Amino acid sequence: MTPCGNNFICVLGVLLCVCFRVFSSVTEQQRTVSLNGKWGLSSSDGSLSLTAQVPGCVHSALQQQGYIQDPYFRFNDVSYQWIALDNWTYTTVFAVSAQLRARQKVLLVFDASNERDGDNVLNVSLLSPVLYASEQRKAHSAYRVPPECPPDVQKGECHVNFIRKEQSSFSWDWGPSFPTMGLWKDVRLEAFDILQLVQISSVPLYSMFHQLDQVKLWWPNGHGDQPFYLLTLRGFQDGLLILNTESKVYFRTVELVQEPVVGSPGLSFYFRINGKPVFLKGSNWIPAHSFQDQVTPAVLKNLLQSAVDANMNALRVWGGGVYEQDLFYSICDELGIMVWQDFMFACATYPTEDRFIQTVREEVVQQVRRLKSHPSIIIWSGNNENEAALATDWFNIPAPQKSTYIKDYVTLYPNILLQEDQSRPFLVSSPTNGAESEQEGWVAANPYDPHYGDTHFYSYILDCWDWRTFPRTRFASEYGFQSWPSFSTLQPVSVNEDWSYNSNFSSHRQHHEAGNQEMLLQAAFHFHLPNSTEPLKRFTDTLYITQVMQAQCVKTQTEFYQRSRSEIIEGKGRTMGALYWQLNDIWQAPSWSSVEFGGKWKMLHYFAQSFFSAVLPVGFEDNNTLLIYAVSDLNQDLKLRAVVTVYSWADLDPVCTLKSDLILVPGGSAVPIFKEPVATLLVGCGRCTRLTCLLTFHLEDPSSVQQGPTNHHFLCSPKEAQGLQRPNITVSFTSVAPFVWLDVGNIPGRFSSNGFLMVSRNMTVSFNAWRPTSVAELSKYLTITSLRDVY
Ligand SMILES: *[C@@H]1O[C@H](CO)[C@@H](O)[C@H](O)[C@H]1NC(C)=O
Ligand SMILES: *[C@@H]1O[C@H](CO)[C@@H](O)[C@H](O)[C@H]1NC(C)=O
Ligand SMILES: *[C@@H]1O[C@H](CO)[C@@H](O)[C@H](O)[C@H]1NC(C)=O
Ligand SMILES: *[C@@H]1O[C@H](CO)[C@@H](O)[C@H](O)[C@H]1NC(C)=O
Ligand SMILES: *[C@@H]1O[C@H](CO)[C@@H](O)[C@H](O)[C@H]1NC(C)=O
Ligand SMILES: *[C@@H]1O[C@H](CO)[C@@H](O)[C@H](O)[C@H]1NC(C)=O
Ligand SMILES: *[C@@H]1O[C@H](CO)[C@@H](O)[C@H](O)[C@H]1NC(C)=O
Repeated sequence: MTPCGNNFICVLGVLLCVCFRVFSSVTEQQRTVSLNGKWGLSSSDGSLSLTAQVPGCVHSALQQQGYIQDPYFRFNDVSYQWIALDNWTYTTVFAVSAQLRARQKVLLVFDASNERDGDNVLNVSLLSPVLYASEQRKAHSAYRVPPECPPDVQKGECHVNFIRKEQSSFSWDWGPSFPTMGLWKDVRLEAFDILQLVQISSVPLYSMFHQLDQVKLWWPNGHGDQPFYLLTLRGFQDGLLILNTESKVYFRTVELVQEPVVGSPGLSFYFRINGKPVFLKGSNWIPAHSFQDQVTPAVLKNLLQSAVDANMNALRVWGGGVYEQDLFYSICDELGIMVWQDFMFACATYPTEDRFIQTVREEVVQQVRRLKSHPSIIIWSGNNENEAALATDWFNIPAPQKSTYIKDYVTLYPNILLQEDQSRPFLVSSPTNGAESEQEGWVAANPYDPHYGDTHFYSYILDCWDWRTFPRTRFASEYGFQSWPSFSTLQPVSVNEDWSYNSNFSSHRQHHEAGNQEMLLQAAFHFHLPNSTEPLKRFTDTLYITQVMQAQCVKTQTEFYQRSRSEIIEGKGRTMGALYWQLNDIWQAPSWSSVEFGGKWKMLHYFAQSFFSAVLPVGFEDNNTLLIYAVSDLNQDLKLRAVVTVYSWADLDPVCTLKSDLILVPGGSAVPIFKEPVATLLVGCGRCTRLTCLLTFHLEDPSSVQQGPTNHHFLCSPKEAQGLQRPNITVSFTSVAPFVWLDVGNIPGRFSSNGFLMVSRNMTVSFNAWRPTSVAELSKYLTITSLRDVY
């Protein structure tokens, strides 16, 4: 066991660094002056002049001062394009005390002066990022650095790859174009004298332990606790305490295992934490708001807690967004969320002029030093999909020029990124073939090869209930399906005329070409599409059916990955990660997210809570044979049997129940536990056909105690099911009701269970409210929808 992640060294490094900047006075006030607060802000021609909060950004300031409406309202992303095309100046006036000026050094820290007695004027002029990107593009005349512009459907700005800022701020396929400007983090003066290194006392960390192997280790959520040690450091000068800091120190190891696999060409690809192979269960993280100043601690806590509540243990911080704020990673440390951290490059080629490379180098050094003491970060990854873009020629680069682009690629990613932190694995891209890509000169012939590394996989036209369409990959780092958010989320940013699936608004908010049609196409494979003659009901029913479709699709795909963890089939398998695209939303619009903008859980997120359980029964058909696998993420072995209950769609009394033998399910494995041809099963069960019956199943231990959630398997598409009746839900259930969905409008909170299959006459569901509410308020807004209500 080695102390993890050089954290220890890093923390000391940071502290030593602080020690050289020892302040000879003790109080904080005398050495730092915050310049946060109200600044002046003006447009380039002075026609707009207002006060602006720092930290903050131009858009937020304009909205707060009433110059613009909510930028997310209806079509405002387009109406407010002018903001990012203008240049803006932030101005503040501040006084510097004589005491501060007496210090040898005074730094102006924008997390970056000469100051004089009395008033100092600080002007920060910001050039339009859109203009800047376009000028950089013009200056780069030697060859193209594609893509030039985003697809029209995104209504975005061009050449974002020429500017080091959030790549998705110029638009993405799930987000609006708001190229922000502003002082988005703290601004302060730091004054200090440079002294000789003074006496430092710290309690040696190891003398807490008798032996190093008694160190309490940090574990991912679901695998153990997240204990930490406090490292206290004190500095004295002339016997006076002048420095006293405390840091959390965690211990863990991480390895990315890429080695030959018996029975399979290629290499394994999985993470070992503290020596234990861990299946990564989770999702992908995008920026939580177009205006980062509006991402409050409460927003971060809520989203990350939602991830943990859905039994996730990992998130990938995707490379088209931002390096998240410190609090994000501290919460991940505390909750046991493993972070796959991309560097911020996505879906593009990038320039490699000296000036660009210098700023990237500085960026990497600063970010890695800022973040590397967090145990939650288990891997650095160079970029999102840029290896795939070169390998599979997204940008129509003529063959003779390809080597130029590959040279630029190698200059940028492996060369710069590899140097700063040797304590955790590094991957050059995602998807990638990992070690194999490295062998092939960092750009593999096929970065999507399921025998190596990680894959991204999307298909909207194939039937998602057919697991054969999914690649049996080593690690699924992206896959997903879109859905619409609920009506209560859309309502504040829309008006009556927007509330139909074919409205201009519905088209405008969809940034993925043909996305709205694809959702209906996918839903229509298995469900009747909503056809109420009442327009608003038809709209809300359609929102619902897209969520049903998404939840069922992502469930099917994730369960396929979960059950593939121990097998090699046709040379493929040993899947050790399922991170679906995407956890959160940046605005109120259709997207692949499982949590809506504002924090409301979509049906998918409730499903994730089940399909990421520590013990999970997975059911599927292979050649008309029903198979059930027991998947366990536990440390200990279990003896389990499958219990299958067959129901008729028409009523709630089970038709029959079957039980398998008890089978040993080792910790960290997926084991087939039940196998029976569907025809045999139905005949044995009596009055059942594929069209009239469905089944539920769960696992139980030798004492008949249920382990893990109850799952379901449909024997036909619900649209063909015979006997499915419109439930009289608020009063009583008389037949099976699939996808029962409770909604309390915009009362924030979540249900204990939702989107469930109702096979009992009554069920108790609780609501965990995120603000005070009452039974009366909940009753007023409660609606209950199930599949049979929408057609
Ligand atoms: C913004 O500043 C640039 C560089 O000074 C200038 O070329 C451009 O015209 C300015 N834009 C506006 C809207 O004033
Ligand atoms: C700073 O900005 C203010 C407000 O835009 C302007 O009046 C002043 O001339 C600027 N000063 C300098 C030195 O640019
Ligand atoms: C939708 O947008 C088109 C094109 O901008 C416009 O002509 C049409 O009137 C709009 N329809 C509605 C119902 O607003
Ligand atoms: C399923 O059927 C196909 C086609 O008949 C056959 O190739 C395949 O081996 C069968 N799979 C299993 C698991 O029996
Ligand atoms: C629902 O069931 C109750 C009691 O069985 C009955 O009184 C009521 O009329 C039913 N409502 C509808 C809409 O069928
Ligand atoms: C709910 O169902 C259980 C078992 O079917 C039954 O014992 C109980 O009385 C029911 N409760 C209500 C309120 O109907
Ligand atoms: C809606 O679709 C269902 C199922 O196809 C059909 O039975 C029903 O008549 C349709 N209703 C309307 C109003 O078109």
